[in-house]
Amino acid sequence: MRHLLVPNRKVQAVLTEITKYDWLSKEHRIFSSEDGKNRLIPLSFSADVNLPEPLCDFEIVFSEGKPNEIIDTDWWNHLENLVGKATLIEHKEAWPSSHEFFADMMIVRIDDSVEKYTSKIAQAKLLSHPFIRLVLSDGGVLGELRIRDLKPIGARKDSELYFENIPSGLTNTKVSVKESGRYISCDPQVAYYSTKLQTERLETLRFAKELRKELNRPLAVCDPFCGVGPALSTLIAEDGLVGNILASDLNVAAVELLFENLQRWEKREYPTESTPIEQYYNDRIVGLADATKLSNNPNISGKWDLVLVNLPHRTIDFLPKLIPLLNRSNMSLIRGRVIVAESDIPSVNEKINQILPPIAAGKSKPELKIKRDYSSTLRLCSFEAWIEKAIASSIE
Ligand SMILES: C[S@@+](CC[C@H](N)C(=O)[O-])C[C@H]1O[C@@H](n2cnc3c(N)ncnc32)[C@H](O)[C@@H]1O
Repeated sequence: MRHLLVPNRKVQAVLTEITKYDWLSKEHRIFSSEDGKNRLIPLSFSADVNLPEPLCDFEIVFSEGKPNEIIDTDWWNHLENLVGKATLIEHKEAWPSSHEFFADMMIVRIDDSVEKYTSKIAQAKLLSHPFIRLVLSDGGVLGELRIRDLKPIGARKDSELYFENIPSGLTNTKVSVKESGRYISCDPQVAYYSTKLQTERLETLRFAKELRKELNRPLAVCDPFCGVGPALSTLIAEDGLVGNILASDLNVAAVELLFENLQRWEKREYPTESTPIEQYYNDRIVGLADATKLSNNPNISGKWDLVLVNLPHRTIDFLPKLIPLLNRSNMSLIRGRVIVAESDIPSVNEKINQILPPIAAGKSKPELKIKRDYSSTLRLCSFEAWIEKAIASSIE
């Protein structure tokens, strides 16, 4: 997560400023830098990408957040009251101490060994987080559309808590999440969206700015696995960064939410229901499409400076069908995510380099960087590949 690196003597003044915008993360605490001269102040997920004066004078550091022990203690105390000290200690490592917030919902992953305490877990979470309406258990991301298997396990209405037969009015999962200063409509029960990818999106923004500088004009961005559009939200927010956009996905529900989001971000009309990919404005191609077939369309193929490939379990298979989307008349960029066994990283790096066209002079060869563990053996990685402009005769 983002932290502001602030010299110790300026911390109080900066905190006053951050609090004015309500950008201090409530879930995480401030901690000291290694040399003891600075403090790292955790910024909330909703804080703008470009911070205003005087906050923009301080360096942003991406670092694992340190949990706010006061909230944490609260959750452990409630859980202990509900299950007893002996049970708490017996399963010490298995309790879901972390969670993901989606507006007024919370998603928790419940280990099999504590599954029989699901209602107690939900109760302890609701008691320690009074602004949460609904707690959902996360059974993992399923199928080609990468939709989470979510089950409501607890809910609140005013002072009443529910754990069974939760009234249907409380189980609505469509919400608006404020990420990097913008609202994103999402519904994790029908379309993929993860708040945990914010750092990834900010990194993509940094690479896009670098490419913008190389090309000296707004970028044509293709996001063929765009889901509800969070990567585009961050890019569109940056003045003059993006020109043409292609945003598509295979999931009907995701495209419906994408239309709603684009309408809000761009203040232009889009359909209210999902439709096959279509050119809505001179600079917008949006809708339902299979990414692997996009390059068959001559109006789409070869037109894009930046192509985002966010389907990590299929990226390597799909890459050959996505490369023709690139605009090879100038330098272009592919930003991809891959799930791979740690031991396979060297061979996958080699494969990526074999599949891709030549890399631009002066840019590093694409290499998988481990972002986090996906399972005990698999790692979620990302890479960026700067593709060299093709010589005229090879562009057809
Ligand atoms: C991991 S999600 C990423 C979504 C979005 N980019 C984000 O960061 O939130 C992958 C998305 O790819 C979509 N998808 C899967 N196969 C596809 C295909 N062949 N063509 C287009 N989209 C596809 C899924 O529906 C899902 O929304």
